[in-house]
Amino acid sequence: MASNWQPDGWKAHEARHLPVYEDADELTGVEGTLSQFPPLVFAGEARALKADLAEVAAGRGFLLQGGDCAESFAEFHADNIRDTFRVLLQMAVVLTFASKQPVVKVGRIAGQVAKPRSAATEIIDGKELPSYFGDIINAMEFEDETRRNNPQRMVQAYGQAAATLNLLRAFANGGYANLRQVHRWTLDHIGSSPWGEKFAQTADRIGEALDFMEACGVNPESVPQLQGTSFYTSHEALLLPYEQALTRRDSLTGDWYDCSAHMLWIGDRTRFEGSAHVEFLRGVGNPIGMKCGPSLEPDALLKMLDTLNPAREAGRMTLISRFGNDKVRESLPRLVCAVAREGHPVVWSCDPMHGNVIKSDSGLKTRPFDRILDEVRGFFEVHRAEGTHAGGIHIEMTGQDVTECTGGAIAITDGALADRYHTHCDPRLNAAQSIELAFLMADMLNLESTERQKQAA
Ligand code: PEP
Ligand code: CO
Repeated sequence: MASNWQPDGWKAHEARHLPVYEDADELTGVEGTLSQFPPLVFAGEARALKADLAEVAAGRGFLLQGGDCAESFAEFHADNIRDTFRVLLQMAVVLTFASKQPVVKVGRIAGQVAKPRSAATEIIDGKELPSYFGDIINAMEFEDETRRNNPQRMVQAYGQAAATLNLLRAFANGGYANLRQVHRWTLDHIGSSPWGEKFAQTADRIGEALDFMEACGVNPESVPQLQGTSFYTSHEALLLPYEQALTRRDSLTGDWYDCSAHMLWIGDRTRFEGSAHVEFLRGVGNPIGMKCGPSLEPDALLKMLDTLNPAREAGRMTLISRFGNDKVRESLPRLVCAVAREGHPVVWSCDPMHGNVIKSDSGLKTRPFDRILDEVRGFFEVHRAEGTHAGGIHIEMTGQDVTECTGGAIAITDGALADRYHTHCDPRLNAAQSIELAFLMADMLNLESTERQKQAA
């Protein structure tokens, strides 16, 4: 356990991107309420995820992390939760079937509601109000009351996260994720895409494999792993008063865990030396992610790893690179080499979203699918060259048939972006684009395995 650490110790450090709450008593009241609420996850589950990630760090497995850029109160609906869950299941099946590696599934879900903003306030027509920080803090509507940083929204966010998590647990273990259902996971709107057809073929082959195993006496009744799956939750640990209120001492080990999600990550803007966010996450036992963008130097990264994982526990750290397709091949190797040289066990994951945002001709923010794919390819190339494992992917996606990122097999054009542009924050891959990415990544994973086998021979 981290030494000299307290759940509120972050308050003595520099906190960037935290909202200012005008009424301190109101904030204290909400913190008190939340600290009495039950934890959303159990420390033992966070440890199970850490054990799965330790396998990935050792080169055996792949981390699939995805979901909304920002969940919203308005789109809180069972169908949305189910559709995100099933696209992640489909992606996992594609990756597992092709690569024969276990896939660790982690949603950006059930708590991904706070966003870092570059400016604390926004001015429209001469009127200044707090920037929109995500639904856990304020609302998008530019009005005095809705834009007020309102601590009560944390209670609503907790309720939404609890209900989301409850449904995800039911889907994961109540029969929906049974591999025998694999054909039923296909969403109507991707059925017609080329990748929908390819998915149906994969599902046929899985069905045949299950029939064969059944004839040998192996079936979902005898092997529980076929009946359901493990599914974990994660979000950026940005709103520290909320995270602190959900931080509890594990009754089994006596260690502290942030029980708002299984895995928490530190954003690219809050991972600097002396950061309150780093100080907070240093002391909790969960698996931790850290975004690594173009401004991160190898020495700073190593210092951060020493702070966050002094015991060098495998599965504790996931490094999520997000350089942009034009920089990944040049900038990532330095970080990968430094970490390998120092012997830090980490999962290397690729966020091909945040370095590839452009403004389309129509004025909407978008991410061209080609650039996303190119960053993923660059990420795999770098790891193949360095002899390290390309261990995961971190994406903003949805099960809805949105038009937010251009390109993909059902080529979404610049002009079509406005048709179904629903995101609350950054543009997401839609279901068809997500599955296409999974098939293309499966080939990249196979290339890595072939390379490794050649070297071992
Ligand atoms: C995010 O993942 O939503 C995000 C803000 O990313 P980053 O910190 O990498 O910019
Ligand atoms: Co985002």
